[in-house]
Formats: sequence, structure tokens, C-alpha cells
Amino acid sequence: MKELIRSAGILGTGRFVPERVLTNEDLEKMVDTSDEWITTRTGIKERRIAEPEQASSDLAILAARAALEDANIRADQLDLVIVATVTPDHAFPSTASILQNKLGATKAAAYDLAAGCSGFVYGLTAAATMIEARAMNHVLVVGVETLSKIVDWTDRSTCVLFGDGAGAAVLGPVPEGYGILSSVLGSDGSGAELLVLEAGGSRNPASLETVQGKRHTISMHGNEVFKFAVRIMDEASLNVLKKAGLSSEDIDLFIPHQANIRIIDAAARRLQLPEDRVFVNVDAYGNTSAASIAIALDEARKKGRIQSGDFVLLVGFGAGLTWGAAIVRWY
Ligand code: ACO
Repeated sequence: MKELIRSAGILGTGRFVPERVLTNEDLEKMVDTSDEWITTRTGIKERRIAEPEQASSDLAILAARAALEDANIRADQLDLVIVATVTPDHAFPSTASILQNKLGATKAAAYDLAAGCSGFVYGLTAAATMIEARAMNHVLVVGVETLSKIVDWTDRSTCVLFGDGAGAAVLGPVPEGYGILSSVLGSDGSGAELLVLEAGGSRNPASLETVQGKRHTISMHGNEVFKFAVRIMDEASLNVLKKAGLSSEDIDLFIPHQANIRIIDAAARRLQLPEDRVFVNVDAYGNTSAASIAIALDEARKKGRIQSGDFVLLVGFGAGLTWGAAIVRWY
């Protein structure tokens, strides 16, 4: 007979962002835009850009090693590696398998997870569920993106928004009452075309025409994604709070997906969360999709913004359309 469910939580976190900084002033020289427009519409001041030879797994490994060290877990103690990304090294094999090998996680299974910017919260939920069910003991979840490789650098409506980076978390068993208390995941594929990389898959295989038509770069209906984001951040947060038997007053730190300061402010206002309980770093990194919440979580911790016993609310939304929210009581 199977043993009872146990609690699962985050044992350590890490992050890595490339050294190269691209500022709004740099972008002014590339497209018809201004620091003023980007700052007021998005809150972004600069973003990090990977080198031509750096692929997602190269960023992921540095974030993963930092998380393992923080958790005091060896790579060969991992049972599973999950990589959340929309910019894998290749369509296949999975970036998770490449990372698993580079890390020396010899006993781990590995798979990629594609849920857009919600990917890290999806990954945390999957990992926690497997640990709770005693199917796994230690799981590494990495959110990583090299979005600079799939951005159309001549399209001012998208190229100013995105950045590269990686964040990681190691999950394992924690005492009852701590860890991932609740999570809510969702998808509405009727919005699939609002945020899409059209070509390179089985729908539109790569061809001269797809390359010439720039269909291997991000295409986005920004306004509609914006409206969806504001609504879903609020809805998902309220649902996950309810599931945990908490209210927004109980939340010590809100770590939303870092896409746009106006989306973050709107969500915080609706949840009646004061500024000092909202973590923001969109100014420094832009939107790093699946890496965004993972990077923010690690930065918040290393800045001393999260203490043992704190209730942390993570909420993401993204391509799919998808959304995911989780409440963590920090161990
Ligand atoms: N610089 C200057 N002007 C610009 C720029 C720019 N970089 N980009 C667009 N504009 C112009 C537009 O052309 C438009 O001009 P027009 O009125 O003459 O047509 C004007 O600015 C207003 O454009 P809007 O798109 O209406 O601007 P908006 O206030 O909606 O802001 C933005 C656009 C920032 C993209 C916003 O809609 C947004 O943040 N949406 C959400 C996007 C998002 O979060 N995406 C990520 C999802 S997660 C994932 O999975 C990757």
C-alpha cells in the first residue's frame, strides 16, 4: 500500500543572467522608440542578452548549480529535472536532458515543459505533486529563456519587451505546514494566436518563405494579452488564496510574472497589496518569460525579502494562453 502524502517545498534557489546589458537608449538607436515610451508603457529600463554562442542550457546550468548549492543537494541526488522554456536548445532532444547530462544528474529523469511565462509555476506544481505522492524525492525546476534569439529586432512593438535569463529551484520534502500549500493552473487555447511563434513546427515547417516572412520570431497582440493578463492575475491569485484558506492580507510577498509594471500594479491594486509586499525587477531584466518568476524568487530571497514562515504568492500568465499561481510557505 502507498504511504500517505507528505509536504513538498523549495529547498534552494539560484539564477543566472547574461552579462550583456541592452538599455532603452541602445534600443533608441535600433528602432523608432524612446526611453520615455518604454519606461512609461512597460517599466523596463534594460534587459540582458545572451551571446550568440550561449543557448538556453548554458544559462540554465549556472542557475541550476546555484540552486543545488543553496539547497545543499548534489546533482546525483536529483530524481527529475524539469525545464520550463519556449526557447529550448533544440526542438528535440529536450533541454532538460541536455542539462541533466551537463549537471551530472545521473539518476534523474528529464523533460521540458512548454507553458509560456507560466512554465515555472507549472513546473513547481508538477514537482511538488510528485514529491507529495512520494514518487520523487528531489526535483530541479528551471525556468530559462533566450528570447533574444526569437525576437524580431526590427519590430518595436515586441523587441523592447523581452530579455534572457534563467532561474532555478530545488524541491524536496519539508515539514507539514510548509512548502507549496496550493496551486492553480489553467489554459485557454482559444487565445493561442495572440502570442505565437508561427513557423518551425509541424504547422508551418521551416522554409525559405517562413524565414523571409520573419515567421520564426515572436508575434503578439499586445493589447489583448494585456487585458487577459490583468484579469487572470487577479482571478488566479484569488483562487489560489481560497484554496489555501488564506486572504491577500496573509501574503508577505507577491512575486508576479515580470512582463509589464502596469500589469503588476493593476494586480497589486486589485489584491490590495501595498508596494512593499510586491516584488518588482522588470526594470532590470524585462520579460524573461518562463525564467521571470524564478529569477525574481531567487533575487527576493537573496535580498532578504523572504524569511522562514513567510507566505509567498507566485502568479504567472503567458502564451497558450496559460496561467498559474502557487502559494509557498517558506521553510
Ligand atoms: N516605441 C514607441 N512606440 C511604440 C512602441 C515602441 N517600442 N511599441 C508600440 N508603439 C506604438 C504603437 O505603434 C502605437 O502607435 P499608434 O497609436 O500610432 O498605432 C502606440 O505605441 C500604442 O501601442 P499599444 O500597443 O496600444 O500600446 P500599449 O499601451 O498597449 O502597450 C504593450 C503595448 C507594452 C506591448 C502592452 O500591450 C503590453 O505590455 N501587453 C502585454 C504583453 C505581455 O505581457 N506579453 C507577454 C506575455 S508572456 C509570454 O508568454 C511571452
